[in-house]
Amino acid sequence: MTETLAAWGGWEPAIRDDPFGHFAETLAQCPVQRVRLADGHPAWVVLGYDAARQALYDPRISKDMLAALAEAGDVVAEGLPGPEFSRHMLNVDPPHHTRLRRLVSRAFVPGRIAALEPAIRAIASSLCDELEAAGPDATVDLVEGYAYPLPWGVIGELLGIPPADRPRLHAWFQVLLTGWAGDPPPEAVQASDGIVAYLRELVDAKRRSPGDDLISVLVAAEDDALTTQELLSSLFQLIVAGHDTTASVIGNGVVALLEHPSQLQALVADPGRISAAVDELMRFTAPVPHATFRVTTEPVTLGGVTIPAHEQVLVCLGAANRDPDRFPAADVLDIGRSDGQNLGFGHGIHYCLGAPLARLEAKVAFETLLSRYPGLRLAAERDALAWTHGDGLVLRGLASLPVVLGPARDPANPIETKETP
Ligand code: HEM
Repeated sequence: MTETLAAWGGWEPAIRDDPFGHFAETLAQCPVQRVRLADGHPAWVVLGYDAARQALYDPRISKDMLAALAEAGDVVAEGLPGPEFSRHMLNVDPPHHTRLRRLVSRAFVPGRIAALEPAIRAIASSLCDELEAAGPDATVDLVEGYAYPLPWGVIGELLGIPPADRPRLHAWFQVLLTGWAGDPPPEAVQASDGIVAYLRELVDAKRRSPGDDLISVLVAAEDDALTTQELLSSLFQLIVAGHDTTASVIGNGVVALLEHPSQLQALVADPGRISAAVDELMRFTAPVPHATFRVTTEPVTLGGVTIPAHEQVLVCLGAANRDPDRFPAADVLDIGRSDGQNLGFGHGIHYCLGAPLARLEAKVAFETLLSRYPGLRLAAERDALAWTHGDGLVLRGLASLPVVLGPARDPANPIETKETP
């Protein structure tokens, strides 16, 4: 007889677009539960804050899904673009994880991130110029015109992707990240093939003529410290991790602020609070509702529940970050929250490598937008906003965000903020 399990993922739009009520109800039943995924596989979902933190930290819960499930005689379906692109740090355990993360970390040292700030400000300003050209009362799409191109431009700079190539690469990634149920549609296969061929060519070009960018750093380590498969996989993962998530923080964050005018006004009045606000917006809007899949290598007890060996584990960051036992008034957006312990960037050895860059990008994005357009407003009903990302498990963002910018403040006098302690 088939076990009856609650379904997790593949939700109807009402839950997918605003999953927090569902997360809270499920968490209230039990912080760790066995569920059935949309593809029919059973898995364990971890919702409570303490259990989630423990799960992300526990070495008995592996990120090497392929190895752990193959050992148990099970298989996981390889997503696009396939095995050649899946050998990156987020899919392996130590010692491979340590080696890959150390190599890529070279691009994320504080000095290198700080040096990107002028470029990030320039990208944000020029995107605002383009949006503003439509006029103060025009409806513009803040996702297409700002939230996406900003981190996309930054990851392009960091990796050394030639500017002329960025639009077509972006279009392919958008198709791939929209998500689908069942077999991939032909346009996703085409996009995946395009990305694979392009990244191979780009790596070849960097081998012939290296520059001062992350791809060249990785190419220099190829053969000695990393294989070509690991190099291509790392690029793919960095591009995905490095733009879609940040775009969602910006888009989701703008919606949350427009829905909470007193919080928005507090930021406009005191932009020095923007860095703290970014953390709270991450907690509140869950741009990454679940960490990526993990698998137990032996039985593990979390929140009083024992998960047997060889079971898939899904840590629900969106639920943990609103666990009422951890965050007082968890369903309230409060940019004055000070403890900064939310799990939006994960925890443990896979803690987001790009977190300092993502924080800087989001800070500049909100600073630029709010200082230039203090009268920014939504141009659609909140319920009519289109959310995207297929099953809604790992990514949660908007397909578009219609807004009216309102009259602009003089961009020649941007507000450069000092941090409010
Ligand atoms: C606000 C935007 C971002 C959010 C919310 C975010 C979130 C996360 C989360 C939750 C994880 C852990 C996943 C897991 O344990 O399953 C992670 C890992 C990672 N992120 Fe981010 N991320 C963001 C931006 C970035 C950026 C801009 C980059 C790079 C340019 C980046 C690169 C990475 C990498 C390389 C990992 C894997 C780390 C490892 O396995 O050791 N992320 N991110």
